[in-house]
Amino acid sequence: MRSVTLPGGECVPALGLGTWMMGERGAHEPESVAALKRGIDLGMTLIDTAEMYGDGGAEELVGQAIKGRRDQIFIVSKVLPSNASRTGVAAACERSLKRLGTDRIDLYLLHWSGSVPLRETVAGFTALRRTGKIRYWGVSNLDLDEMQALWAVPEGDGCAANQLLYNLGRRGIEWDLMPALAARGVPVMAYSPLEQGRLLGDRTLKQVAAARGATAAQMALAWLLHRPGVIVIPKAATLAHVADNRAAAEIALTPAEFAALDRAFPPPRRKMPLAML
Ligand SMILES: NC(=O)c1ccc[n+]([C@@H]2O[C@H](COP(=O)([O-])OP(=O)(O)OC[C@H]3O[C@@H](n4cnc5c(N)ncnc54)[C@H](OP(=O)(O)O)[C@@H]3O)[C@@H](O)[C@H]2O)c1
Repeated sequence: MRSVTLPGGECVPALGLGTWMMGERGAHEPESVAALKRGIDLGMTLIDTAEMYGDGGAEELVGQAIKGRRDQIFIVSKVLPSNASRTGVAAACERSLKRLGTDRIDLYLLHWSGSVPLRETVAGFTALRRTGKIRYWGVSNLDLDEMQALWAVPEGDGCAANQLLYNLGRRGIEWDLMPALAARGVPVMAYSPLEQGRLLGDRTLKQVAAARGATAAQMALAWLLHRPGVIVIPKAATLAHVADNRAAAEIALTPAEFAALDRAFPPPRRKMPLAML
């Protein structure tokens, strides 16, 4: 499994597991737990979740999936902007830890920016790092102007990742945000890498994939995995999809495939508003 280096020097798998829409029926969802376990078995040991997903239900499922092998797993979770005050972040983290059944979150993200000043959220994250409840902190859905504001607050340069909507059809961040993050060694976590499945019906993607005997999902993920400093977190709730996605990490795209995909999904030619789901 290829890896991506965090600003602190630690390496994490470039291909992980998403959990949005999991746990919506509460903590009993054996098929989702089985899919996460299979993903871990296959080396996708980075799991992305959030207090928001299934109102905590997704974190509980992650807790079940990692039982007995916590040390192999890199857990990413997210705090809601409404909980992102200095004290709110500490209380939200405790609740997440309990649901996850662990004593630490590896990477704790601000889900998107809200009304709490970034300075305050960063102070909360920094305090959590000091106590060891989180190992790294980062953000999600922050555009370049917000990243610049973040980097300007005390300890703001400790941001370890920005999780962003990024896939073949959503390339706006390539204009200025990705280069700015890359310049500071801050990885992009590409969320909704399959555009929640909607990308998979695209004719060109299907043709390029079929020509080499791959699936459209594998091509879309392989394209992302070629980008340096990008962590890709597809969500898959079936064993077949998990296996399909894992195999994407073995695909090396050719220049001709890149060119065909660039024609169908052109890179940005100007600044685009930050897209999010
Ligand atoms: N920070 C944020 O604001 C934010 C926003 C959105 C998402 N995220 C994170 O990013 C993760 C991934 O994004 P996402 O869940 O929105 O969408 P996604 O990963 O782009 O797509 C998930 C959908 O694609 C299907 N799928 C997965 N693998 C497949 C395959 N090999 N072949 C065919 N279909 C396949 C899944 O079906 P099955 O489930 O039936 O397998 C599911 O319906 C989330 O789960 C979440 O952890 C973060």
